[in-house]
Amino acid sequence: MNALLKHSLAISRTQSRSSLQNIRLSPFSRISTRSLQTSSAKRPPLAFAFDIDGVLIRGEQVIPQAKRALEILEGDNELGMKIPFVLITNGGGTSETIRCQRLSKKLGMEISVSQFMQSHTVLKSIVHKYAEKPVLVLGGRPGAVPRVAAEYGFRNVSTTLDILRWNPSVWPFHDLDETEKAFLESRPTFDPSTRFSAIIVFHDPRNWALDVQITCDILRSDGYVLPSSKPRKTGDDDVKLIFCNPDLLWGSDYPTSRIGQGGFRAAFQGVYKALTGSEYPYVQYGKPTKATYRFAEKLLRDRLQELHPLDVDDGHLPNVYMIGDNPESDIAGANAAGWHSVLVETGVYDRSQGSPAHRPTHLVKDVEKAVRWAVHREISRLL
Ligand code: G3P
Ligand code: MG
Repeated sequence: MNALLKHSLAISRTQSRSSLQNIRLSPFSRISTRSLQTSSAKRPPLAFAFDIDGVLIRGEQVIPQAKRALEILEGDNELGMKIPFVLITNGGGTSETIRCQRLSKKLGMEISVSQFMQSHTVLKSIVHKYAEKPVLVLGGRPGAVPRVAAEYGFRNVSTTLDILRWNPSVWPFHDLDETEKAFLESRPTFDPSTRFSAIIVFHDPRNWALDVQITCDILRSDGYVLPSSKPRKTGDDDVKLIFCNPDLLWGSDYPTSRIGQGGFRAAFQGVYKALTGSEYPYVQYGKPTKATYRFAEKLLRDRLQELHPLDVDDGHLPNVYMIGDNPESDIAGANAAGWHSVLVETGVYDRSQGSPAHRPTHLVKDVEKAVRWAVHREISRLL
């Protein structure tokens, strides 16, 4: 490591750690970076995974420090390198392409689908099991989730609105509104002899009552909307119940956190247990589940190879820093994945709540401070 870099970093070290964040290493740092550009350091010593709601965005508002944080990773840093990052959200309800277009516009930089995953993206890895089988999909605005499901390869998709149109007395307390009617115009009439193989909650349901009623009906009638005496066919298993986002709370632009899909799951299980005496077994995806973090690691490896291609990519991942606002999902999942975790106070968690339920590697005010802290931590490790 040449004298210049040692010298400039030595300066930084003598200054108190906390001010390290604001120190921009001397302009020589770019030159010194070349000393890092030996074969082993062709790649940056770290990578990032960002949560969205409560870290980069609150409701429709971009959190002010978000753009600056991402600019640093786009190359405006002491390493003079692009530092790979992916976005992992428990949000959803639309296609990855549309979500990335909207995020790119909001954040003022291109966010590509190859660096993005939402709560239901992981379903791409199980769609082969259900491609031709009848599945009921829940959540999102009328029409949005069936489009995503079709894009993933689910070819026999129904919604609770289809069933409500087939027989309005299935839930007599809701009249279809104009948006729902417009969505149903293009839909085939629901066939009540359908036996569902799975019920998949893609995104936060808009009509909890309707969705709880129909989900209970189907799970209590072995996959049919009405009790059926039809014996199971070979290969017919128990109906699979899948939730894509476990968040009980999430950080929006409302002053206090809002109830998320985890609240819907609790409401459904509460009613189902009241009716049957026990909860219905389910599969959970989304942060903090292993499946979601494994999927994200694959995205990060591919992104690293995209930004810093190696002839022989051994798949090695540098230190990964997860920046999140929710201890239950972001921090718990990152810790379990062996990543470093940084908790910010711009969303669900704030220190007036006391210690977080899952201990992060570091706690800071916002995403920009989180990125600066992690970059400097890794640079100082290079010394
Ligand atoms: O509905 C989205 C919410 O549960 C959390 O989203 O981006 O904080 O994981 P995010
Ligand atoms: Mg969040």
